Amino acid sequence: MGKSETIERLIGHFHRENIRNVVILTDKNVDRCHGNYFDALSEHVEVDKLVLRPGEKSKTIQTVAQIWDYFADKQYDKDVFLLNFGGGMVCDLGGFVASTYKRGIRFANCPTTLLAMIDAAIGGKTGVNLPSMKNGAGTIYFPDIQLPVDLSLLDTLHINDFFSGLGELMKYALIASADLFHSLRKRKKFPSLTMEDVNFCIDFKTKIVQEDPYDKGIRHILNFGHTFGHALESYAAKNGKPIAHGIAVAQGLYYESLLSMQFGLLPQEEWQLIADFLPKYFPIPEITPEFLENLLPYMQNDKKNHDGKLNFTLIDHIGHATPDHSVSATIIPRATLRSTMD
Ligand SMILES: NC(=O)c1ccc[n+]([C@@H]2O[C@H](COP(=O)([O-])OP(=O)(O)OC[C@H]3O[C@@H](n4cnc5c(N)ncnc54)[C@H](O)[C@@H]3O)[C@@H](O)[C@H]2O)c1
Ligand SMILES: [Zn+2]
Repeated sequence: MGKSETIERLIGHFHRENIRNVVILTDKNVDRCHGNYFDALSEHVEVDKLVLRPGEKSKTIQTVAQIWDYFADKQYDKDVFLLNFGGGMVCDLGGFVASTYKRGIRFANCPTTLLAMIDAAIGGKTGVNLPSMKNGAGTIYFPDIQLPVDLSLLDTLHINDFFSGLGELMKYALIASADLFHSLRKRKKFPSLTMEDVNFCIDFKTKIVQEDPYDKGIRHILNFGHTFGHALESYAAKNGKPIAHGIAVAQGLYYESLLSMQFGLLPQEEWQLIADFLPKYFPIPEITPEFLENLLPYMQNDKKNHDGKLNFTLIDHIGHATPDHSVSATIIPRATLRSTMD
């Protein structure tokens, strides 16, 4: 599996759908490491390539507008096909371009980070950041075809970005598979990753998205770790010390597992396994009363909240989550403080 299967599937798709123009959207790092990945496509279609500056700072409506203008200058019509080749930044931004240029063109994601393979490239959420809000504007718009993942692309990934993907992988273990959790916990060499681990996450997310494509109910379980996680991520970014999304998620998993235990859902001995495992691989900050005061405004701003209450996904066992627990902000301090005194 990997590159040759991806190319084969794309060529088959282009022939079937009569697609003649393909634009590859990527970023400088991916282009430097894997710039020739899609060379074989040019024997079958016209290939154009757009290379973005890497990182979240490119994920803006200004970049989208530049791409719209570029497409318009090139006179691309509705039949142009967009191939997003990169991490979550490229997939989110490219998906947004695809959903809006001429009211929608066809596209696919070829994810190059672990986080994008198991999360961002699946599920149709596209978007850009607003100055004051991460992912503040976006659409739900599904790719034309799902491409197989190529784990060999990860060989060039920076270790921090790899751990960021592992943070999301831990989320899948905690919400969906005790077997995966225990398997990861017992591995002699961590981080070591198998195709089965990655496929489990892809299959699980695909199934949940099929059940709830527009994020009205069960899909919320994928938010486990993200209420604290987003607050920690936003706080860190605001203070000039950004942390990768999946690292913040791993920190959020720790505190939301703790809340699950404190609210009487998660058995104490299961919490202990999580509390032993996560800090071995992810830096878990202590949440002091003062720090919590700084985080709460971000949590209160969360898109998931209703009626002024915070919305959490919690776990009742390792491998099983329930969405939409409404929690008053005043309960959080007490619960969290107790933990830091343990
Ligand atoms: N749409 C969704 O459902 C969803 C889900 C989770 C996260 N996201 C979004 O995904 C983004 C984060 O994704 P990410 O962690 O992949 O970040 P990213 O796309 O910024 O990639 C991280 C870094 O790795 C580099 N890179 C990518 N692939 C590489 C490779 N194969 N070799 C070497 N370097 C490589 C990139 O240039 C970048 O510097 C965020 O914007 C987040 O909001 C979206
Ligand atoms: Zn996430």
